[in-house]
Amino acid sequence: DIRQQFIDFFETKSHEFIRSSAVVPHDDPTLLFTNAGMNQFKPYFIGLQEPPTKRVVNSQKCIRVSGKHNDLEEVGVDDYHHTFFEMLGNWSFGDFYKKEAISWAWELLTEVWKLDKKRLWVTIYHEDDESGELWKEHSDIDPQRILKFGAKDNFWEMGETGPCGPCTEIHYYTGENIDDQSAEGVNLLAEYREIWNLVFIQYNRNKNGELNPLPKKHVDTGAGFERLVAILNGKSSNYETDLFIPILDEIVKITGKEILFEGGVPHRVIADHLRMLSFSIADGAMPGNEGRGYVLRRVLRRAARFGRKLEMKEPFLYKLVSILCQVMGEAFPEILDKKSHIEKVIEAEEKSFNDTLDRGLEMFDRVLNKIPKNGTIPGEDAFKLYDTY
Ligand code: GLY
Repeated sequence: DIRQQFIDFFETKSHEFIRSSAVVPHDDPTLLFTNAGMNQFKPYFIGLQEPPTKRVVNSQKCIRVSGKHNDLEEVGVDDYHHTFFEMLGNWSFGDFYKKEAISWAWELLTEVWKLDKKRLWVTIYHEDDESGELWKEHSDIDPQRILKFGAKDNFWEMGETGPCGPCTEIHYYTGENIDDQSAEGVNLLAEYREIWNLVFIQYNRNKNGELNPLPKKHVDTGAGFERLVAILNGKSSNYETDLFIPILDEIVKITGKEILFEGGVPHRVIADHLRMLSFSIADGAMPGNEGRGYVLRRVLRRAARFGRKLEMKEPFLYKLVSILCQVMGEAFPEILDKKSHIEKVIEAEEKSFNDTLDRGLEMFDRVLNKIPKNGTIPGEDAFKLYDTY
């Protein structure tokens, strides 16, 4: 419903709905995976192609495990980073600009979804005073809640090269004590959660790192769908929403380990990685030894390793594909069409990894038995264990 409400809202602002592109970009050598909603529109931003329409809205499948945007280590440890997530977005290709982007985002958040304005914070690029003024003129945010940050937080780029520009981000305080907020927490503490990024695309960064102004100015916004769902349901964790609960319950059923086993990290990592693997395999990626395939292999092995923490020695990740299809299949029918292919690929890869891991653990024991107590594992053995097993 929330996904549809976002799309409906921007349709009333004359945006056209466009389907998510694949998570595997087939025609952009600068990316291993689609990492933002704007990727499919890159040719329009840099003026290589004319857009068929000037305003679009969508929910884009994104993967952030490699390259400039990589959230892998946060996944499962915190409540709101994912290797795979949906990004709700709306775009202007040389049409409306900052004023409309800002006032519409505020309207949707505070008038349609009625988020508490006393929990919202806004950040702007430190050189972009214009955006600060527009927030004051076109929203009723308390001006003290508009904060300036540098390029790390408020200048958005999809990769080392490509379209980019200053951005203004909207953050939501998820903490218990509404009177306990402070500007210091924004971009620092987990309770201050970034929910929506409005990027004002006006440059193209070239291979030499130079910023070239674009002939037209564009808007590229991205709102974290899972985070919005959590906030609109009054939850501080994305995993406590309809998007994840059925998957976590299925993991409990299959493994027999309760949901908060080891602080809940293994269940969360497995649920997250299942989504990344299923959607990338559905879109044509395959585990392998290099590039994109190696990223898939590492993510699958990471999920399997957390499965070992739950004492799962046999392949089991593939059994979770069915429940994922129930949760996401309506919005993204490609996973229904490819269900049995996804299951087969995951099962085969899990099996081969389990065999490798068992051989590695045997070898590890042999290595340990060979050295004296408190001794040192020889570099050659350590390398072989890391590299091969
Ligand atoms: N393209 C905007 C974002 O990914 O935040």
